[in-house]
Amino acid sequence: MRNYLSNLRPPTTLPAIRNWRARNIVLHTIGHLATGDAFPPLRKENGREGGIPRKVDFALKTRSVISSPSPVGRGWGGGFSARNCSLTSAILSLLLFLPAPSQAQTNIPNWYNPTHEAKIDQLLGQMTLEEKVGQMTLFTSDWDVTGPTIRKGYEADIETGRLGAIFNAHTADYNRRLQKIAVEETRLGIPLLFGYDVVHGYRTIFPIPLAEAGSFNPAAAEESARIAAREAAAAGLHWTFAPMVDISRDPRWGRVMEGSGEDVHLGNVMAAARVRGFQGDDLADPFTVLACAKHFAAYGAAQAGRDYHTVDVSERVLQDIYLPPFKAALDAGVATFMTSFNELDGVPASGNKHLLTEILRDDWGFMGFVVTDYTSINEMVDHGVVKDEAEAGLLSVTAGVDMDMQGAVFYNSLRKQVESGEVAMKLIDEAVRRVLRMKFALGLFDDPYRYSDVERQKANILTASHREAARRIARESMILLKNDKETLPLKKDLKRIAVIGSLANSGADMIGAWHADGRAEDAITLLTGLQEAVSKSTKIDFVNVDAVKESDRQGFDDALRAARAADITIIALGESWEMSGEAASVTDIGLPGVQDQLVEELHQMGKPFVAVLFNGRPLAVPELDKKAAAILEAWYPGTEAGHAVADLLFGDHAPSAKVPLTFPRSVGQIPIFYAAKNGGRPNNANDKYTSKYLNEENDPLYPFGYGLSYTTFSYGKPTISEAQINANGEATVSTTVTNTGKRAGTEVVQLYIRDLVGSVTRPVRELKAFQRLELTAGESKTVSFELTAEELSFYRRDMTFGPEVGEYQVFVGGDSRAEQSVILTFK
Ligand code: NOJ
Repeated sequence: MRNYLSNLRPPTTLPAIRNWRARNIVLHTIGHLATGDAFPPLRKENGREGGIPRKVDFALKTRSVISSPSPVGRGWGGGFSARNCSLTSAILSLLLFLPAPSQAQTNIPNWYNPTHEAKIDQLLGQMTLEEKVGQMTLFTSDWDVTGPTIRKGYEADIETGRLGAIFNAHTADYNRRLQKIAVEETRLGIPLLFGYDVVHGYRTIFPIPLAEAGSFNPAAAEESARIAAREAAAAGLHWTFAPMVDISRDPRWGRVMEGSGEDVHLGNVMAAARVRGFQGDDLADPFTVLACAKHFAAYGAAQAGRDYHTVDVSERVLQDIYLPPFKAALDAGVATFMTSFNELDGVPASGNKHLLTEILRDDWGFMGFVVTDYTSINEMVDHGVVKDEAEAGLLSVTAGVDMDMQGAVFYNSLRKQVESGEVAMKLIDEAVRRVLRMKFALGLFDDPYRYSDVERQKANILTASHREAARRIARESMILLKNDKETLPLKKDLKRIAVIGSLANSGADMIGAWHADGRAEDAITLLTGLQEAVSKSTKIDFVNVDAVKESDRQGFDDALRAARAADITIIALGESWEMSGEAASVTDIGLPGVQDQLVEELHQMGKPFVAVLFNGRPLAVPELDKKAAAILEAWYPGTEAGHAVADLLFGDHAPSAKVPLTFPRSVGQIPIFYAAKNGGRPNNANDKYTSKYLNEENDPLYPFGYGLSYTTFSYGKPTISEAQINANGEATVSTTVTNTGKRAGTEVVQLYIRDLVGSVTRPVRELKAFQRLELTAGESKTVSFELTAEELSFYRRDMTFGPEVGEYQVFVGGDSRAEQSVILTFK
């Protein structure tokens, strides 16, 4: 490595300060530099983590103005003291008069380190413009393909310092080889950053994120992300393009499998958990990777669920629904953001200054870097907002993009644009700083090979403990949708079990899309899981009928024969793995192929059968719901699929997951989600002129939050500690939940609110809290939730954020149809 880091000195100039995060950091930096202290933590305020109360502007729109937290109170915890004052007084007086953002920053990311900033200054001073643009460039290797490839020869680009980051290259030895080129062959020896889509595991594959969201268990999401990071980091990777935090309410969109479903609160909680899992407590720990909140923003709102299609949402919907999980990721310290392919208000996200600068940097104070999605700069030409790629690059860099993924637009045009004065060098320096900041945070400047140890890779990939976690989390992610007459759990000593369907014996279909280095051959199929679970005397007849892709009855007779002879039939239904994920939108979300026909013929036989669904999106299966005795939604469960399904089918464990994305009855109901508006003519069966379909029910097949167990739960009437609260108040809502069945079980207790009268229309229900509760047979426990002004807040008519005076109905129950409620008044 070159010796460019000697003679380091503190920066002599301060970065531009336009936001809370930056203001905090500058103050901390000054404190640090002046005293030589370690970088001090922010103090805690209001008992909440991170020091600054989240986003609530307590200015009441309906009546009066209640206290507004002062900027001084919010921003100056820790780090700043009179000792440092001389250095900063001028700056401070300036800062005091900056306007407060709409949503204040909650904490300083732990990866920000003033010492690194000084080193970056020095490095920037030595870099040529071409080398700087190189740091803003990301190319795919030819190892894996996750989009159209348009360039080869990335190794030559590394050698000339024109390429700072690579994706789709992995394993410790391969990446070491590439790293060696960057470190030893280039002028400054700046290490490469290696990224990859490690979405639900690297080699040990966990359930798809949508499934994991259904566990309503953020600890599980954090754990799977931590293990994914551990394996990925051992395999030479520094950066994952995850979590995908796009809210989506359209199961036609194949990418719903990658997100946390339809709900904002669940999305927030899962986004934060995954960031914590991937990034750990300290990015300098070589078992962590940078996370990437994607796709910024509102990609999940693609019209008609068609991937890459137009998005048209109001600023209110953007702020209320689509942005919060990104903010939650940011508050959890996410290091990078990825832009989305779609437009927002007519401007593609990769060139959208409102999004990338005004919201992300100025309001939220994000200090990590922004990468585009795959060639999304180039695609702005097709969007029709620029005439050519050079103009697209200009739009993008000035909007706030720091790194161009695969498009080679910065690579081809940025240097000339800086030389001609079209792009300010300051902008380039800022982008490069953000990228280098992450390379420093990962410790790559201390040891560029710290992620490239073959022995470490061997010891940390697909270990027994990783598999054990994958099995447990898969189990917790499967939803029991139906269980007539306690068909499940099954006895392990049945004489004959018929197992039908090609999905039952397909490893690839267990791990699903975005499986990184996951291998079909590592996966436990349903068939294997069942075989391992049953008694020695049980005979399993497997019939490999492919009703998913075939278009005729081929194999049906064998299947029916096996079912006729069996004590119980287990039929594996759903989608093959490539039917969901990116570029996998569909207009029909029923069972593909001839699966309905097979189900019907099985049903005609008159014997009960159990359906296990493997799929990446909610399927509209009203007929299956009528015909199957039991339905277990297994999603794509990952490497330990078969074991996890068997654990549930035979009752070693009870199902506990809930629906994270509404299951419609038919595609015509879409979008259908629980947090809908009431409208002026809500459905009334006795009145034709109300909101309804003539040929379909108005309710979904399985609503958000729904899911059965092998026992039943009853809810007592909720109580509330305070009937009224104000801006500083807190009310405790409690309810007693009883296990009314004969087996132990885990219930996800859910709390929803409804703002009865708002300055703008409000959803009929909004999830605000949940808790997993384990109860033995007959046991009762009381669950309590705290409600504050924060949970009651939303974007009011004038787009300020806060609660409004008036009544909120608070529901507690086992799904989004919960009926028992209490009233909480905000005054
Ligand atoms: C395109 C996808 O939209 C994005 O999610 C992914 O991270 C990149 N390709 C890289 O594979």
